[in-house]
Amino acid sequence: EEMTEEERHFQDRVDADEKIEPKDWMPEGYRKTLIRQIAQHAHSEVVGQLPEGNWITRAPTLERKAILLAKVQDEAGHGLYLYCAAETLGISRDELTEKLLDGSMKYSSIFNYPTLNWADIGAVGWLVDGAAIMNQVPLQRTSYGPYSRAMIRICKEESFHQRQGYDIMMKMAKGTPEQKRMAQDAMNRFWYPALMMFGPSDKDSVHSAQSMAWKIKINTNDELRQKFVDQTVPQAEYLGLTIPDPDLKWNEETGHYDFSEPDWSEFYEVLKGNGPCNTERLEARRKAWDDGAWVRDGLMAHAEKRAARRTA
Ligand code: 3HC
Repeated sequence: EEMTEEERHFQDRVDADEKIEPKDWMPEGYRKTLIRQIAQHAHSEVVGQLPEGNWITRAPTLERKAILLAKVQDEAGHGLYLYCAAETLGISRDELTEKLLDGSMKYSSIFNYPTLNWADIGAVGWLVDGAAIMNQVPLQRTSYGPYSRAMIRICKEESFHQRQGYDIMMKMAKGTPEQKRMAQDAMNRFWYPALMMFGPSDKDSVHSAQSMAWKIKINTNDELRQKFVDQTVPQAEYLGLTIPDPDLKWNEETGHYDFSEPDWSEFYEVLKGNGPCNTERLEARRKAWDDGAWVRDGLMAHAEKRAARRTA
């Protein structure tokens, strides 16, 4: 239907690449889809610490432990930047956490897959953070100011995340035959779940059209997935690893790799909560939330006492 005067003015601002700030007028739908995307992005950062956190105490050397610890701490910080950006839209962090725990908000499907051995930590850094970089770099230009600034800050740290993962894969792929087998096995298990991180194919993406008009999404899901495949195939070749897709091949005409789509029925099963680790991940977040209740209550009581003293 026809745009109102305000909607027209808002769209002109977005089209002119102006940044929309918290106090500016915005369509209710813009606010809603930003809360949805930023909060789920934040939930992904927080839940994403679990698969890697599992290996901090099992790292093969002190150096690897220190690197992994630094990366997991970075992810926690990314979550906090993004929750702060979501709060500027008028929703509290507590509400967002409750929505994660009651299943009404999502986190990235990739974190519902297990990290079975150390090679998986390499594959996660290389492929998962590699895909996250592919998705987050364009988001630095998103129309909503607080989200754009959070992305600029986060992207500065992501390349270290990807490099340390690729470094683990290089060591193992060029190590003993058993290490190379582990690296190949990790590649086999993380390849398709990493492709799913970019979302359903464009024809099945419910939010893309509107999100691109509002510059909440800068590229389509398939565009970024293709860029990720084009960039990752040479990296796998350098490692001497085989991408688990017999139909993967360079297409001279398009200048891109042709590749097999992930199993979308698996994707939607994972989104429904039936992935390998969904229950375990949400249980861990619920336990953290419950175990921290006394700290939150204590801080609130303290803050109320201090406020009462000030007004007394
Ligand atoms: N996992 C879980 N849900 C997914 C998903 C995935 N991999 N891909 C899509 N979805 C969901 C969408 O959220 C939407 O459901 P909703 O309406 O309940 O939110 C539905 O599937 C339809 O997908 P659409 O393509 O229509 O949805 P979007 O336009 O929101 O596109 C997206 C999905 C590309 C993930 C987009 O939301 C986005 O770019 N988000 C910001 C980046 C982000 O969240 N990345 C996740 C990983 S962050 C990370 O890995 C941290 C790194 O440091 C490790």
